[in-house]
Amino acid sequence: ETYDAAGKVVAPGFIDMHTHLREPGLEAKESIRTGTMAAAAGGITTIACMPNTKPAISTSIVVSGIKERAAKEGYVNVEVIGSISKDEEGKELAEMGDMLEKGAVAFSDDGHYVYSSRLLMNAAKYMTSFDAPLISHSIESELNADGYMHEGAVSAKIGVPGVPSVAEDIAVARDVLVAGYTGAHIHIAHVASKGAADIIRQAKAKGYPVTAEVTVHHLTLTDEACLGYSTATRVSPPLRSQDHVDAMRAALLDGTIDIIVTDHAPHAPEEKDVEFRKAPNGFCGLETAVGVVLTDLYHKNVLTLKQVVDKMSCSPARIFNLKAGTLKAGAPADITILDLDKEWTVDSKKFYTVGKVTPFEGKHCKGKAVATVVAGKFVMKDGAVCEK
Ligand code: DOR
Repeated sequence: ETYDAAGKVVAPGFIDMHTHLREPGLEAKESIRTGTMAAAAGGITTIACMPNTKPAISTSIVVSGIKERAAKEGYVNVEVIGSISKDEEGKELAEMGDMLEKGAVAFSDDGHYVYSSRLLMNAAKYMTSFDAPLISHSIESELNADGYMHEGAVSAKIGVPGVPSVAEDIAVARDVLVAGYTGAHIHIAHVASKGAADIIRQAKAKGYPVTAEVTVHHLTLTDEACLGYSTATRVSPPLRSQDHVDAMRAALLDGTIDIIVTDHAPHAPEEKDVEFRKAPNGFCGLETAVGVVLTDLYHKNVLTLKQVVDKMSCSPARIFNLKAGTLKAGAPADITILDLDKEWTVDSKKFYTVGKVTPFEGKHCKGKAVATVVAGKFVMKDGAVCEK
């Protein structure tokens, strides 16, 4: 197979370490098939799926099941993130060793996004014998429950109760302290607050084994997007004010934050078609990530092309010890081909994801992934996912 890549950028395959595929159990929101088609369409060759499925990914059987289905029906590589707790209440530690044996690459919570300190400590101590990170979703439960968006000038203006950003700071402080105490590698998911970034910076300076990610939307959107009460802007952590966005960019540049992720969190469009306060958190991101990063970060001179490739391919592969996505001589390649100057408009009707809803609807972009190669085979060419 050939592709004329003259004038394009041939990059190592892009990796998204924070994708919510909803299979098993919630296929009306997304399946392995539709989620991996969306990844292929967006130029992403490897995704890692979060464990808040139904049942949660908390046993080796579920890990193997996802791996098998992904091998059969998936368009891109699927890495699996196991749950640290066996039950949804987070009382009992899951059999993490068994899941690692079946190929889990990291652990996170099962969807409640709050670990008890006890569970976290037990999991962290256990993980010190393995080379896989524990992911912290970094939202403090009680304070987070009080609001629907970032607490600040915009929430006051539109009369929607807000979540104080200190909720995130508190959660991140606890989790980096546990990393320092136990020596377990803790990866902070979707950092969105200036306070959390400052805490991670200090922890890294002390040599704590901490890594961190930021989403595309927390780098490029503010809470002003919520002014029209669009449920497409509801997400956890919430879109924050410009000072926080600036802090995320600075943290990415100084190495405090290691990678960029999508937090692709699809919900069935009708679930989002409700009043602002009733809508579930999250929206899809696999098909917009590369375009938005190239438009708002690369073309606006926030990141160089080398930094984009590092934050979306090399660093995630390194942090999570991934085999796929690392280019080795002679191995079948995972490749993302970029057209840096291609102009296009985000149109969710053209998305492969079931999730459709995006805060970037109608955005005019410059730059796009124009071909995706997984294990030496084209899975997307010029925006169209290739037949399997
Ligand atoms: O907005 C979000 N939705 N943030 C998360 O961390 C989880 C996700 C989901 O599962 O829908």
